[in-house]
Amino acid sequence: MLKKIDDFIRDIQLASIEKSEDKAAEVEKFRVKYLGKKGVINDLFEQFKTVPNDQKKEIGQALNRLKNAAMDKIEEFKNNVIQTSEQTESGMDLTMPTDYSELGSRHVLSVVLNEITEIFSRIGFTVAESVEIEDDWHLFSALNFPPDHPARDMQDTFFVEKEEGRQEVALRTHTSSVQVRVMENNKPPIRIIAPGRVFRNEAISARAHCIFHQVEGLYVDKKVTFADLKQTLLYFAKEMFGEQTKIRLRPSYFPFTEPSAEMDISCNICGGKGCNICKGTGWLEILGCGMVDPNVLEACGIDSKEYSGFALGMGVERMAMLKYQIRDLRLYFENDLRFLRQFEAVI
Ligand code: DAH
Repeated sequence: MLKKIDDFIRDIQLASIEKSEDKAAEVEKFRVKYLGKKGVINDLFEQFKTVPNDQKKEIGQALNRLKNAAMDKIEEFKNNVIQTSEQTESGMDLTMPTDYSELGSRHVLSVVLNEITEIFSRIGFTVAESVEIEDDWHLFSALNFPPDHPARDMQDTFFVEKEEGRQEVALRTHTSSVQVRVMENNKPPIRIIAPGRVFRNEAISARAHCIFHQVEGLYVDKKVTFADLKQTLLYFAKEMFGEQTKIRLRPSYFPFTEPSAEMDISCNICGGKGCNICKGTGWLEILGCGMVDPNVLEACGIDSKEYSGFALGMGVERMAMLKYQIRDLRLYFENDLRFLRQFEAVI
């Protein structure tokens, strides 16, 4: 009987299922053969009852070795099956732990942009998007910038290299170009905001950058008045900077709006008393706006006798600067984690 047991142990130790197709089924077959109710080991335990007493110890120990060998082998097979089934064909083990990567947070500009979008969407504005490389018509001409008009110098444009026979194109210097595209392709009523990246050929400093973000607003319908603009601006300022915020409008000039204005909000740091952020004035300039010039409506195929509209444009970096007291524009783009992490909780 001892010899029989030793032979089984050897068989078990040599057993392998590597060539088999259905490995799990093979493992089960192996288990039934040795450890099943009518399996080899139970059979041997039955025979053990008739073993003379003086051999019981030795054979009993051998039987236990056999049982352990069978159980160990099954464990080994099982590990083998799991591992091979989770390996890809290239041998990559998908059960290996991955590199640890930290959870990121939203960039402060995205946080502010989302907030602006949400505030306008609550009063019916939808988001319009358009191209970042624009032609002269959408950037300037349709917006009432006459050729060689000094107003074009307000914006230092990055022109994209001109190809033979193709019209000149440039990186957009403002999101006002999206106004034109929307009006050309839609009939009033139009109520959109257009967030996006803009580009200007400026030396990079704490106060200027060659890439930044704007949000344009446009509302065109019958009988839109300056009062509508003012009310929209007041609503926006209060939602963005708090209920106590006051606004004031100063006359200004933009080629595409008439009349044009710049909006200031009461300084959200000192509450209007005067501090170093508002340079003692109590006011902070935050955006440009005005009534859409009838020439612009006409250029975009909208009858200016029937329709009127207002437009506004603001810088996202500036909004974030005022909201979170960020003093240097360059911080937005340097990806310094010490800066970015401060906005983890703001999401
Ligand atoms: N496009 C202007 C700029 O980049 C901002 C602006 C001013 C947009 C007045 C407007 C507006 O829509 O009405 O400086």
